[in-house]
Amino acid sequence: VNPVPLIAAKRDGESLSKADLKALVDGYTEGTVPDYQMSAFLMAAYLNGLSAAEAAALTDAMLHSGTHIDLSSVPGTKVGKHSTGGVGDKVSPILVPLVASCGVPVAKLSGRGLGHTGGTIDKLESIPGFGTDLSVERYRRQVEEVGGVIAGQTGAVAPADKKIYALRDVTATVDSIPLIAASIMSKKLAEGNDALVLDVKCGRGAFMKTDADARTLAETLVAIGAEHDTPVVAVMTNMDVPLGRAVGNWPEIREAIACLRGEHADSALMEIVRGLAGEMIVLGGAAETPAEGREKARAAIESGAALDQFRSLVEAQGGDPTVLDDPDGRADSAPVAEVTAPPDAGGYVADLDALSIGQAAVKLGAGRQTKEASVDPIAGLTQLKKPGDPVDDGDVLARLHAGGTPDLEAVRAAVRSAYTFSDTPPAAAPALQARYD
Ligand code: URA
Repeated sequence: VNPVPLIAAKRDGESLSKADLKALVDGYTEGTVPDYQMSAFLMAAYLNGLSAAEAAALTDAMLHSGTHIDLSSVPGTKVGKHSTGGVGDKVSPILVPLVASCGVPVAKLSGRGLGHTGGTIDKLESIPGFGTDLSVERYRRQVEEVGGVIAGQTGAVAPADKKIYALRDVTATVDSIPLIAASIMSKKLAEGNDALVLDVKCGRGAFMKTDADARTLAETLVAIGAEHDTPVVAVMTNMDVPLGRAVGNWPEIREAIACLRGEHADSALMEIVRGLAGEMIVLGGAAETPAEGREKARAAIESGAALDQFRSLVEAQGGDPTVLDDPDGRADSAPVAEVTAPPDAGGYVADLDALSIGQAAVKLGAGRQTKEASVDPIAGLTQLKKPGDPVDDGDVLARLHAGGTPDLEAVRAAVRSAYTFSDTPPAAAPALQARYD
């Protein structure tokens, strides 16, 4: 392939064919198309956009650059889940066992955290012994035998996306909606599921800051799924404030276990879990309507079936199941400091900025600034006060956890700056904002 006419066509706002996009992606993956030509193409695509057909063709080319996991031998309709990423987003470790316990098999490849957003793989690895590096055969067998699996992304899945994402990162072309959609779907379609539910986060702590952008991304994701004969439901959810009251790897798993035990049932976190579960259970054929699916999910938490399923998943992946019995008993998990409300705070928490809290968690050691850095499993924030909570002068706003020696004064300042207070309770923003299919 000669990339120059393809770059010129995209520069001039024309559309590229499926064959053109495949030639470009294959050439780049094999190394015959150099970085500078792919960079020029990405910038042209960033500036002029991609049509729905181009986004689907780009997805297809990246999907077929690597392994497409085949779960057709596993009985049942398998349903996957993905979140575009946020702060305190521990939905997956609750939702995967919950949906599996309702009879719908769930296979999931997850990523690590980068920047201010956490990653499910880092969170699960905070359970002693938990392994996420599974062979395709072990992944397949676990879906069949246990009903749910959460594994790390192997290099064999969508290698073209990995290479292109790294290039986008250094050419200011990450935040293009069609490029993000193609990147996400090239990986999600490789997991082997028959249908997908996507949590499109919207707000200060998310990739998509505005409703309009989140809606466009959601619609693009659904359209790419349709092109690949994979039903996709995208749910737009609020990410202005952190999800739940814990941020960090072990802090979030601890909160997820509490949720699976039936605590926090009336939180925004569990509203989102039930909302996504309802959609997944319908797609998996175990309920007629999302409302019926939500009711099944509620019952599976109440009966303990969801927690039992999480135990099976943890055991199957080599994790220590005793942490489920005594999540608060972990010796190294005591807080090292507190952040208290300023003297004039009396009244209510008016607002809490998810981005600042995510950055505070990174400062504590919970996140990584570069892809190669390691994370502190126990670092993070717990017992966060949230918008609407009453607060008195000097009350504890958050407890801080760290295994290392972070700059606690800098963390305290970041946490305090994330809060605003008011005399009257703020209006609550809905957790579930819109649904696209
Ligand atoms: N997540 C992805 O997987 N890809 C993107 O481009 C952005 C977020």
